[in-house]
Amino acid sequence: MPHGDGRVDLQQDQPHSARIYDYFLGGQDNYAADRAAAEKIEQAIPSVRAVARGNRQFMVRAVRHLAADLGVRQFLDIGTGIPTVPNLHQAAQESTPDARVVYVDNDPLVLAHARALLVGRPEGKTRYVESDVTEPERILAAPDVQQTLNFDEPIALSLIALCHFVPGERIYEIVDTLLAPLASGSYLVMTHLTTDFDPRMVEGTVQAYRGSGIAMEARDYAGVHRFFEDLDVLDPGIVAIDRWFPGGVEPEVPRLVSGAPEPAAAGYAAVGRKR
Ligand SMILES: C[S@@+](CC[C@H](N)C(=O)[O-])C[C@H]1O[C@@H](n2cnc3c(N)ncnc32)[C@H](O)[C@@H]1O
Repeated sequence: MPHGDGRVDLQQDQPHSARIYDYFLGGQDNYAADRAAAEKIEQAIPSVRAVARGNRQFMVRAVRHLAADLGVRQFLDIGTGIPTVPNLHQAAQESTPDARVVYVDNDPLVLAHARALLVGRPEGKTRYVESDVTEPERILAAPDVQQTLNFDEPIALSLIALCHFVPGERIYEIVDTLLAPLASGSYLVMTHLTTDFDPRMVEGTVQAYRGSGIAMEARDYAGVHRFFEDLDVLDPGIVAIDRWFPGGVEPEVPRLVSGAPEPAAAGYAAVGRKR
């Protein structure tokens, strides 16, 4: 929250999901309270750093595919996180220099770093809006959203590793509200924590977040599918994050030292197209 004098209160004494995630990605933008929470989460999910990296890699794969192969030129990314190269606009502008991106997050530290998100290709445009996904109308009405995105053309709405921070039924209404004004041919891009692959590990993770004061709900396949009910889900469908590749074609890359057990997936990834 900005102080009266324009400074940002970083709320360093409370753990924040953006800073915990930054810690898992090896970043420097986290405080003692975030690290203490992160260590408890890591006890529940020892592979969490690989999970965080895998989630970020999905974002890059999906955005490159949308921009380069499907011609999407506009992105509304909610729950952006602390900048980590490549950021979403960089992945999009590799193939589409004039891509326009609006970033939205509710963490004051992300706001403090927003300048790093605003340096893109001169042909394109990036903007940052401090807002909460639980106020979707406010996001849609924000001047930077209205002035940057053309709602007559397709927009990719990306909610990557975000919706599990909003427990309960309301998140479905929120996502529907965000999708409603988007043109036909727009996309929903999502990753979401699930208990389907390793219930004990992910239930422990949810408890560790909650114990640190961060609300969270993992959802099963049906709960994630519900976000995509009225959309055409692209291949390969709603799958474990590390298994999502454009068209479902997974490159032959050896991922693990031979003999090492592959850690269970912690989340689903999917991309759906609005009819
Ligand atoms: C795990 S990070 C994911 C960052 C990025 N989307 C990615 O996948 O690499 C979750 C992000 O969502 C943000 N966030 C959590 N709850 C939010 C809310 N209610 N409204 C907006 N942003 C939120 C956090 O501040 C954090 O930056």
